[in-house]
Amino acid sequence: MIFDTHAHYDDEQFDEDRKELLHSMADKGVGTIVNVSASLKSCERVVNMVQEYPFMYAAVGVHPDEVGGLCEESFARVKELAGRDKVVAIGEIGLDYYWDQESHDIQKKWFVRQLELAGNLDLPVLIHSREAAADTMAIMKEHARGLKGVIHCYSYSEEMAKEYVKMGFYIGVGGVVTFKNARKLKQTVEGIPLASIVLETDCPYLAPVPYRGKRNQSAYIRYVAEEVAKLKGITCEEVIRQTEENAKKLYGIM
Ligand code: NI
Repeated sequence: MIFDTHAHYDDEQFDEDRKELLHSMADKGVGTIVNVSASLKSCERVVNMVQEYPFMYAAVGVHPDEVGGLCEESFARVKELAGRDKVVAIGEIGLDYYWDQESHDIQKKWFVRQLELAGNLDLPVLIHSREAAADTMAIMKEHARGLKGVIHCYSYSEEMAKEYVKMGFYIGVGGVVTFKNARKLKQTVEGIPLASIVLETDCPYLAPVPYRGKRNQSAYIRYVAEEVAKLKGITCEEVIRQTEENAKKLYGIM
């Protein structure tokens, strides 16, 4: 079944139909969802949400756009939440030089602190990196040794993807791969083994074609799997099966 490794169902775009939508997932072939926090507030929300849905797990972490709100006191709360039941990863964390909401020094500081937290708790990391390829790789090489994880919504070169794969990381592939102009990502998918790919929505964002621009949801991963299958010359079912196995192994969900 489909394993959505990165979703944001606590987003207000799901306020009107969250329950019905999530309860319909099994019928649509979706087996497991990891709901990922971005802000301090969403860390609180996701650990509560997973209690309601047996097929849902949580990732706790603070997105680089939001780290301005962190201090030792609030970070202590993040640490506490990260130790809760059904929390399977630290994320999303990283660097974002596109939106550049916080100084690079502040972003780097909290990125490293959250990587250390993952190491202490022996949890995988979900990495958000936008227009910060070199700094992300440098920090990962220094501070993510021995960690597992996903380079989420991967947007860099095929060569760099291969380097991450060599380091033991998975490449997160979502709706963007179905876009006509996503040549670089299509090339990356062709160039790395299926054993190193996990599928994701990042919903409500980044819906695949034919829903591009609309609200995304986990069932639409089928379109992502179809595109990956086309690029790899295998069946959609094989892509869904292998990426589910990859994700279960990564998150330690049996
Ligand atoms: Ni995300």
